Amino acid sequence: MIINLPKIEDPRGNLSVIENETIPFPIKRVYYLYDVPSGTERGGHAHKEQEAFIIAVSGSFDVILNDGQQKRVYTLNMPNQGLYVPKMTWRELKNFSSGAVCLVISPAVYDEEDYIRDYEEFISYLK
Ligand code: TYD
Repeated sequence: MIINLPKIEDPRGNLSVIENETIPFPIKRVYYLYDVPSGTERGGHAHKEQEAFIIAVSGSFDVILNDGQQKRVYTLNMPNQGLYVPKMTWRELKNFSSGAVCLVISPAVYDEEDYIRDYEEFISYLK
């Protein structure tokens, strides 16, 4: 689900803001991917419990979401738009533009136990 963020337009530069109320979960952690070499793919996992909210704060990239039933490709290229990723969604990120920055907001601290990194395991976990 794409969520539009407020954009405060100003000749001095635009400003967008995310508050707890803006997204479907409370904000606990923020991390970002940058200096991604051209042709690199990231992601390739699902989370058992953790949702995510992904924003292309600079540049563009594709996020492929797969809930085990259907796959959808979202091209993120606007700093005032984000993609909500529900739990138990297999995600892949690819086609990063030069200078792309992928900001991810999470409802929990990093926990490797929450990851499913094997696709077959993801499919059987869904059953
Ligand atoms: P990972 O989530 O697998 O990256 P991506 O899905 O973007 O390809 O994380 C890559 C590495 O970084 C992995 O070894 C775990 C570590 N990491 C942390 O230590 N803390 C964090 O908050 C995140 C997101 C990753």
